[in-house]
Amino acid sequence: MAIDEAKLNEFMGRFVQDIGAVMHAATVVVGDQLGLYKALAKGPPAQVEELARRTETDPRYLREWLSAQAASGYVNYDPASQCFSLSEEQAFALAEEGSPAFIPGAFEISVDQFKSIPKMKQALRTGLGIGWHEHDPALFNGTERFFRPAYAADLIPKWLPALDGVVARLEAGASVADVGCGHGASTLIMAEAFPKSRFVGYDYHAPSVEYASAAARKAGLAERVRFEVASAQDFPGSGYDLVAMFDCLHDMGDPAGAAAHVHSSLAADGCWLIVEPFANDRLEDNLNPIGRVFYSASAFICTPASRAQQGARCLGAQAGEARIREVASEGGFTHFRRATETPFNLVFEARP
Ligand SMILES: C[S@@+](CC[C@H](N)C(=O)[O-])C[C@H]1O[C@@H](n2cnc3c(N)ncnc32)[C@H](O)[C@@H]1O
Repeated sequence: MAIDEAKLNEFMGRFVQDIGAVMHAATVVVGDQLGLYKALAKGPPAQVEELARRTETDPRYLREWLSAQAASGYVNYDPASQCFSLSEEQAFALAEEGSPAFIPGAFEISVDQFKSIPKMKQALRTGLGIGWHEHDPALFNGTERFFRPAYAADLIPKWLPALDGVVARLEAGASVADVGCGHGASTLIMAEAFPKSRFVGYDYHAPSVEYASAAARKAGLAERVRFEVASAQDFPGSGYDLVAMFDCLHDMGDPAGAAAHVHSSLAADGCWLIVEPFANDRLEDNLNPIGRVFYSASAFICTPASRAQQGARCLGAQAGEARIREVASEGGFTHFRRATETPFNLVFEARP
């Protein structure tokens, strides 16, 4: 066997990056859950002992954690003063829950992925599904915290205005269903922005609906926002001005059935907003860092979730515009267009 040493070395260099990133993920989750990034962001640069006092942690362990963060570029280290600190940018991304760049939630998803390995091994052999509800709660929390920053940054100023006439209706007072709403991040962001409109979030996963209901109460929005357990194929109500689906159509076993039900639930001039992970139509055009994130999630979470439901369409998280358009058309929608996009999301508008 002729091994090209240069190619092997290049591949091994990539491996060092990858294994470092994977092992770093667990340290981010711990730092996030213990409030270490937030404590670092609050005070001035400090040495380990001071930070240990500030965070009520063991100094020796904290030194190792801080060293790992510094090696990953997540914390700054000044050798002259032996102080650790966060730059403004690191603090914005690591310590400010709700900032549009907040990233620790994404790492939480990897906790579920590792816990899912036994189920995934079996699924790959048998072809059986793994329902969304069969995952670790780390997935439900991580998903909310991973997606919320994009919704906080883009939904109100960019995505809704990209839909024809929708903002005016929301401002005047519209009836909105957020289907597959999970923890309700998108529902609550819309409800806060449009005080004259009424919102209902549906999801088949009862613990997520409970979480979302509590969040609505906490935000003081429960009068105009409610959450109910229902599937996308048979949620109640009709005459909706807007039905929204954020990052969930591809998870469904019967997305065309869901599309047909949305069609029947909308007002004649209503709008179906579909937000999906960014993807091109062809595999070869998704072989990039973002495709890597989404294909990995799709292999462990989205595709098995669809396989677990009736229909088992298995669109996958990299379905792309052509497949989503096909689903909308099968559901009876005659108008479909890409309203806008970000590096992480495709935003579609479908009309009856
Ligand atoms: C990736 S999560 C997205 C959650 C939420 N929309 C967000 O953006 O944070 C997918 C959600 O779709 C829900 N879901 C999957 N299949 C469904 C179905 N057939 N009917 C209703 N909800 C469904 C799951 O329970 C899960 O909450």
